[in-house]
Amino acid sequence: MSRQTGSAADGAQSASTGFRETFGAEPAGVWTAPGRVNVIGEHTDYNDGFVLPMAIDRACYAAAAPRADRILRVHAAQLGETVEIPLDALVGPGSAADDRDAADPDMSPLADPAVTGWAAYPVGVAWVLQQAGFPVSGADLYLTSTVPVGAGLSSSAALECATGLALAGVSGFDLTTAELAHHAQRAENIYAGVPCGPLDQMSSAFGQDGAVLFIDTRTGEVRPQPFDLAAEDALLLVIDTRVSHAHGENGYADRRAACERAAEFLGVPALRDIALADLPEAFAKVAVGLDEPTARRVRHVVTENARVQQFVAILNHEHFSLPPLGHRMMQSHASLRDDYEVSAPELDLAVATAVVAGAHGARMTGGGFGGSAIALVDRGQLDAVQDAVRAAFAEQGYAEPQFFPAVASAGARRIV
Ligand code: GLA
Repeated sequence: MSRQTGSAADGAQSASTGFRETFGAEPAGVWTAPGRVNVIGEHTDYNDGFVLPMAIDRACYAAAAPRADRILRVHAAQLGETVEIPLDALVGPGSAADDRDAADPDMSPLADPAVTGWAAYPVGVAWVLQQAGFPVSGADLYLTSTVPVGAGLSSSAALECATGLALAGVSGFDLTTAELAHHAQRAENIYAGVPCGPLDQMSSAFGQDGAVLFIDTRTGEVRPQPFDLAAEDALLLVIDTRVSHAHGENGYADRRAACERAAEFLGVPALRDIALADLPEAFAKVAVGLDEPTARRVRHVVTENARVQQFVAILNHEHFSLPPLGHRMMQSHASLRDDYEVSAPELDLAVATAVVAGAHGARMTGGGFGGSAIALVDRGQLDAVQDAVRAAFAEQGYAEPQFFPAVASAGARRIV
């Protein structure tokens, strides 16, 4: 049995057992959705750009059963909390049909959602699906997750996607993978009020065993790309700095707003439309017409989009080699640190130390301001890299980092 099947089986079992203990009945099924690491392509998704994530073998598991009434009860195992809400109380602006096929739906946050905190994520999914016209029935939902919270590994997207599939399953309607990702993102944007792009939910929904996903966030095209690091005797190591990224929420919204301002100023629909060759001119214009930090935000987005394409081109070589991939990761990190200013001292230390200890490259992954770094490491160097990062953190008095390999895994699905 592969490691991944083992952990999915464990997750299914713990969700089923928890469901029985909490609700005193059998679940009708168990659905799962993974967290992700983004290999390269950071802060490009809300600029209509390119990303290259992979789903990992840390996931949220949702055991669920339908109810005859119109009540939604959700239990979060890690918090030991249950919320209960009548589905008919989940009303909001706009009519049901409005949003379902809208090309550019309004993602503004609701002024007063019925629930807040962790429950806004699963309840938001129910709300969004109802708003879109899906016949959501009453349900009991037991959620348990192995994705660390606040580590920049998309625990919330995993929760949203697992909830969305479970609700569809017990209510008896189908959701395509693209619909799942889209509505999960809408739940996060509108109901939980977090202005994220599509990266996390698409990664969780579309994940594939052994592959990274080359995603064009403008067209929604997803191209799985084999990423067999084991064949190279290497792995992608996650270094969770244990600095919660939550305090970066304003920073994230600020960056997003700066990109939108810059695109408008440059007269393009999104920064994706600035070609690398036009960057010097765009940089100068924005630096003079807006301000220098905003010009650097533009430079990050434009160069990062190019790096994703270069990374994919390298993967497509018949024999890809790791140093040029590692090099792009280093460039990405430097750009996020210096131009985009979303790194953190712990992330910078993890990246620098990993590389000095022999990693081919490393970078922060996800939104930044804390969370996790990833390092591309030969198996033979794994212990040296982990020991060096642990020692460097101890020396600075930082919390002890956590390490685990990122295993490219399947996306959201039913498992029982
Ligand atoms: C967070 C957001 C994503 C994406 C990344 C940065 O993870 O949720 O939509 O913007 O940051 O690449």
